[in-house]
Amino acid sequence: KKFDVCIVGSCNVDLISYVDRTPKIGETIEGNKFEKGFGGKGANQCVQAAKLGGKVAMISKLGDDVFGKEYLDNLKKLGINTDHVGITKEAATGVAPIIVDKEGRNSIIVILGANLLLNENDIEKAEDIIRQSKVVVCQLEIRQETVLKTFEIARKHSVLSILNPAPMSEKLNRNLLSAADVICPNQTEAEVLCDFTVETIDDAKKACKKLLELGSRIAIITMGDQGAVISNEDGQYEHVEIEKSSSVCDSTGAGDSFVGTLALLMAREEKLSLKEQVKRACRVASQSVEKKGTQTSYPTKDELRFNLFE
Ligand code: RIB
Ligand code: NA
Repeated sequence: KKFDVCIVGSCNVDLISYVDRTPKIGETIEGNKFEKGFGGKGANQCVQAAKLGGKVAMISKLGDDVFGKEYLDNLKKLGINTDHVGITKEAATGVAPIIVDKEGRNSIIVILGANLLLNENDIEKAEDIIRQSKVVVCQLEIRQETVLKTFEIARKHSVLSILNPAPMSEKLNRNLLSAADVICPNQTEAEVLCDFTVETIDDAKKACKKLLELGSRIAIITMGDQGAVISNEDGQYEHVEIEKSSSVCDSTGAGDSFVGTLALLMAREEKLSLKEQVKRACRVASQSVEKKGTQTSYPTKDELRFNLFE
């Protein structure tokens, strides 16, 4: 196959303000630093896989504006296939104003703009790229109909599909859960999907079971510094522990770093157990929180402190 990973998802320009604390309603505070960067959950995942040496393709929609032009350049410079990154005059490139506090915690607003114009027709035109990929990944910063179409085509060609249900929507089309092979939510997303609290590892194991009942083949729930809980190949639920990151600077996009890495490992290291794939993806993501920004903070293969591939 020509590509390891194909991502169908969003591109946003991140507008990040670094502050001591998040302001209250009606309050004005002085921030410490402002930074503009390339983000969007879809593109972040794509860029992480590319930085680790993956052969990747992005399917997305940008506005016909300065941000859109800069974004396309960014993807091309990283060697990402952009044959199906469309440009529309009907909406502006997606943007994400972000606040990051002293502890490295973030609050994000997304104004999706052009991302919402990526439609089923665009996906049909990209069928060949999907067919030629080992793994295809979607998130929820594009229309759900577009995501469903993507998974339909992936299944037709037996391409492994991953749904990262972020950001979670109360109006989630439940058919999405059986349309993808793998579902990979974080703790809070799992709570909405399962309709009970997911705080402990035991809760997460129960949630994994529920996600399988809802139609996924494999469930992976990320649990922040508690690591992740997975449903493994033998029908067991397992906790994947991680070492805590020593210096958290900016955790924005860490979840995307995880999903991008996981997708690449699933494409390249099929013989590795799911547990080991998840463990390695957690380690890459925890390296990303040590640096500012989203894509800029993602480690390249050479920057990793361990061997990602066998
Ligand atoms: O997951 C982080 C991302 O969420 C940011 O890059 C921002 O663009 C939003 O999509
Ligand atoms: Na970061």
